Amino acid sequence: MWERHIDAPAFKGYVSADYRSVYRELAKLRGRVWKVLEWGSGLGVVTIMASRMGFDAYGIESEPDLVEMSRTFARTYGPDARFTRGSFIPDEFEWNAADGDEMHWTEVDAPAAYDELEMELSDFDLVYAFPWPDEHVLFRNIMRKCGHRDALLLSYDSREGIQLVRADDRCERLS
Ligand SMILES: C[S@@+](CC[C@H](N)C(=O)[O-])C[C@H]1O[C@@H](n2cnc3c(N)ncnc32)[C@H](O)[C@@H]1O
Repeated sequence: MWERHIDAPAFKGYVSADYRSVYRELAKLRGRVWKVLEWGSGLGVVTIMASRMGFDAYGIESEPDLVEMSRTFARTYGPDARFTRGSFIPDEFEWNAADGDEMHWTEVDAPAAYDELEMELSDFDLVYAFPWPDEHVLFRNIMRKCGHRDALLLSYDSREGIQLVRADDRCERLS
């Protein structure tokens, strides 16, 4: 589907992760986290996978066409996975260049999606994301400022691979 739609506007910021690596990390986290949120869920593969693995799984995506495609996939492959259109950046997050917040590809104009989910970022035990290389700091800062302090941030990056950090002040790297 990605190859068929690669030139469509909705796919402008879409690159898919290495899903086998993400699956292996999620498998290690079974029994340790329950509520999982995918930031920028794209076609919904990780959210659907997490749902099928028994996690309570949600995806937030700013591109309406991708949200529709992920819901279509979910009907066949993971009907409990829930997708919401909007931004994963909570309204209360204050962007601060002095903290190293850089945005290159992340959509900043979409309204936050948490109200529609009737949840807050701090309700989630684990957030999974695939940031662009310069946006790791921003993603960690969002978790540090708005996430639950015991929550984990799992990220995939084509250069760094998988990273797992705790969302507290130290952002301690766990793997
Ligand atoms: C690099 S892709 C990752 C797709 C998928 N999570 C994966 O790991 O394969 C980033 C996705 O984030 C979405 N996105 C960018 N900014 C966003 C925002 N503020 N809120 C929600 N989604 C956003 C893009 O539309 C794109 O689908």
